[in-house]
Amino acid sequence: MTGPPTGAALFAAGPTPSLAIDGDDRVREANPACETLFNLSRHILVGRRIDDLIGPGPTGAPVAAPYAAYDQVLTLPGGRRVVADVMAAPLAIEAGWRVLTLHPRSPGPIGGRRDGGQRSATAAAAMLAHEIKNPLSAIRGAAQLLDRADDETAPLTRLIRDEVDRIARLIDRMEGFTDSRPLVRTPQNIHAILAHARDVAVQGFAGNVTIRESYDPSLPPVLGDRDALVQIFVNLIKNAVEAVDAQSGEIVLRTGYRSGLTKRIHADAPLALPIEVCVIDDGPGAPDDIADHLFEPFVTSKRSGSGLGLALVDKLIGDHGAVVEYRREGNPVRTVVRLLLPRVGGRA
Ligand SMILES: Nc1ncnc2c1ncn2[C@@H]1O[C@H](COP(=O)(O)OP(=O)(O)OP(=O)(O)O)[C@@H](O)[C@H]1O
Ligand SMILES: [Mg+2]
Repeated sequence: MTGPPTGAALFAAGPTPSLAIDGDDRVREANPACETLFNLSRHILVGRRIDDLIGPGPTGAPVAAPYAAYDQVLTLPGGRRVVADVMAAPLAIEAGWRVLTLHPRSPGPIGGRRDGGQRSATAAAAMLAHEIKNPLSAIRGAAQLLDRADDETAPLTRLIRDEVDRIARLIDRMEGFTDSRPLVRTPQNIHAILAHARDVAVQGFAGNVTIRESYDPSLPPVLGDRDALVQIFVNLIKNAVEAVDAQSGEIVLRTGYRSGLTKRIHADAPLALPIEVCVIDDGPGAPDDIADHLFEPFVTSKRSGSGLGLALVDKLIGDHGAVVEYRREGNPVRTVVRLLLPRVGGRA
C-alpha cells in the first residue's frame, strides 16, 4: 500500500495552470499545466517576476491574494494573448506568498466578433418569434370554433389549444432574450429587491418551502436594473424551490461584501464586483451530465421545464457586467448560485 500523495505531487498533477509566488513577486514553483500554457519550461518560469509573465493586476501592482478576476486578457511572453480567469489564494508559508491559478477560456476571437454573431442570432430569433405568433393565434381560433361544433373531437381540439398556448408561452419567454433595449441601471437596495422576489415566490410557487434570509445590513447600493434583478432572483428562487423537498426543503438568501473581485469588459477599466448574493438550497443539485451547461438555453432536467430560466439569468447578469456561477459547496454540501454584482461608483 502506498500512502496518500504529497502536496507537491498534487500540485504537479493538477490540470489547472498553477504558480506559487513568493513575497518578492517571483515564481517559486510552476506545475506542468503552466509549462503548457506559457510554452516555457518550469526551469525558465521559476525565478521570473509574475508581472513579467501575465502583466500587472488591476491596481498596477502584481496580483496579491486573495484575488479573483474574470475574463482577463493576459499577454504572455512572446506576445500571445489569452482570456483567462485569474485567482490568487494566500499560501501559509510566509507573508506575501500565494498560489495563483489561471483558468483560460476556450479559444475564441478576442474582440467583438462573437458579439456580432450573437447579435444577428438575436435578431433572427426576434423575427422568428414574431412570425410564429400570428399563425398560432389563427390555429387557436380555429380549434376553438371546432370545439363548439362537436363533442367527440373536443378533447383533441383542447389538446391543440393547450399545446398552442404552451408554444406561445415559450415564445414569450424567448422574447426576453431578444429584448435589446438597454438596461436602466440606477442605485438599488438589493435587500428590497430580494424581499420582492421572495414575496413573489411565497405568493406563487414556494408552497411549504422555508425561505430564510441571511443579510449583511451594511451592504452599499448595487448598480442595477430593478426589473431585471427581480426577474433574476425569481428565476433562481423558483429553481431552488423545484430542487428541494416540498415539505422540509430550505432555501437561504445570503448577501455579503467581498473586496478584490473584478471583471474587465473589453478595453474598459476593470469593474469591481464586491456585492455577493447567493441563493442556496439543500436539494441534490443538478444532474452531473448537465451541470456544466446549466446556463445554456434549452438545457433542462425537468419534464415541463423549458431550460430558459438560467439562460435568461446569464444574459441579464452579462448585461450588468456581473458574474453568476453555480456550485455545490459547504459542509453539508448545498447548491449555491452566486452572483457578484457591481456597486455604485465601483471602478476597481
Ligand atoms: N437550484 C438548483 N438545484 C438543482 N438543479 C438546478 C438548480 N437550478 C438549476 N438547476 C438545473 O438546471 C436546469 C436548467 O435550469 P433553468 O432554470 O435554465 O431551466 P428549468 O428550470 O429546467 O426550466 P424553466 O426555468 O425554463 O422553467 C434545471 O432543469 C435543473 O436541472
Ligand atoms: Mg428554471
